[in-house]
Amino acid sequence: MSPLILGIETSCDETAAAVVEDGARVRSSIVASQLDTHGKYGGVVPELASREHLRAIVPVVREALEQAGVALGDLGAVAVTEGPGLVGSLLVGITYAKALCFAKGLPLIAVNHLEGHIHAVVMEAGGVELPALALVVSGGHTHLFEVSEAFSYRLLGRTRDDAAGEAYDKVAKLLGFGYPGGPVLDRLARYGNPRRCPLPTARMKGNALDFSFSGLKTAVLRWVEARGMQDEIAARRVLARHGAPTDDEWLAVTPEATLDLIASFQTTVITEIMRRVLAAAGEIGARSAIVSGGVACNRGLREAAAAARAAIPIHFPSPGLSTDNAAMIAAAAQNKYLRGEFADLTLAARANLTLAH
Ligand code: KG4
Ligand code: ZN
Repeated sequence: MSPLILGIETSCDETAAAVVEDGARVRSSIVASQLDTHGKYGGVVPELASREHLRAIVPVVREALEQAGVALGDLGAVAVTEGPGLVGSLLVGITYAKALCFAKGLPLIAVNHLEGHIHAVVMEAGGVELPALALVVSGGHTHLFEVSEAFSYRLLGRTRDDAAGEAYDKVAKLLGFGYPGGPVLDRLARYGNPRRCPLPTARMKGNALDFSFSGLKTAVLRWVEARGMQDEIAARRVLARHGAPTDDEWLAVTPEATLDLIASFQTTVITEIMRRVLAAAGEIGARSAIVSGGVACNRGLREAAAAARAAIPIHFPSPGLSTDNAAMIAAAAQNKYLRGEFADLTLAARANLTLAH
C-alpha cells in the first residue's frame, strides 16, 4: 500500500503543509512565509510567529490537500513537527494535527525537525548510500550526524554558539542588509575578493568536529568599527526597508572593501563547514554525505562541495526543500508509518528535542 501522508511544519516562522505519497513523491508542498511580519524587526519574534501560524494553518493545510487532489479521508496519516523549535509555534501545528487525527480517526506521527531536513535530501536523491554523514545547517542548527542503516543517528559535532545561518543573519544585520541575511551575502560575495580580509577560524578544544562562529562574527564587528562604515551602513538600512533590493541596488551602496569583507566572511564559513564535513565523513567511513537546511542553498558551499572532489557523493536538496517545508516532515514520517510508530493525543511540543547524543 502506498500511503498518502499529510505533513505539517510550524517550528519557526513558516507555516507549511504538504502531501507526500510513499515517502517519495511530493503531491503538494505549501509554505506560507512570515518574512513580511518579522523582516522589519531583523529576526523572528516568537509571539508574532505563533499568531501568524494560527492565522495561516487552516488555509495552508486546505491548499495542500486541494493541490494534491486528496480529501482528508484519503490520508494514511498526519505527520507533524514535534521539535526542536519555538514552543508557541510548534504548539499550533501539533494541536491542529491532533485535532485532525481525532476528528478523522487518522494515525498521528511525530517527526523531529532535523530528521525532516535530512529526509528532504534522501527523498530527492531517491535514497542515499548508508552510512552517511549528514550536515544540518540552518538559522537554528549546525549539526553533524552519522546516519546508519535503518536511519539511526549519532551526533558527531555541533555548534557551541551561533548556527551558521545565524552568523550570516547577524553579520548581514550589522552591515545594514535586511533579514534574512544569508541569501544577500551569498549573492554579493561573488563581487568581492575573499583573500583581502583575513578573518579568524575557530580552533576547537575537545571535539574537533564542533563548530564556533561567534569569534568570526566579533571579528567582522571589529573590522566595521575600525573603519567607520556608518554612512554606507545607513544607506543600506534605508534600502533594506524598501522591499527586496536587486544586486545592482545593493552594489550602488556597497564599496569594494565591504564586498571583500563579505567574500572573506563567506569563504571562512564555507571553509569551516567543508573541513569538518570531509573529516567527519572520513572518520565514520561514510558512503555518502547529505547537506541540508537553509544554508544548503548557499551557492559558495555548493561550489566548494563540487570542487572538493570527494570520493563520495555529496547530496544537496533543491532550494525549495532546503529551507523549512512540510514535504520533508511527511517524507521523514514514512519509515515510522511502516514501523507503526504512532504518537497519541498526549503529544507535546518539545522546544529542545535532540536527534541524537
Ligand atoms: O532551514 P531554515 O529555513 O530555517 C531554520 O530552521 O533556521 O534556514 C534559514 C536560514 C537563515 O539563517 C538564512 O539566512 C539561511 O538559512 N540561508 C542562507 C542562504 N539561504 C538561506 N545562508 C547562506 N547562504 C544562503 N544562500
Ligand atoms: Zn529548519
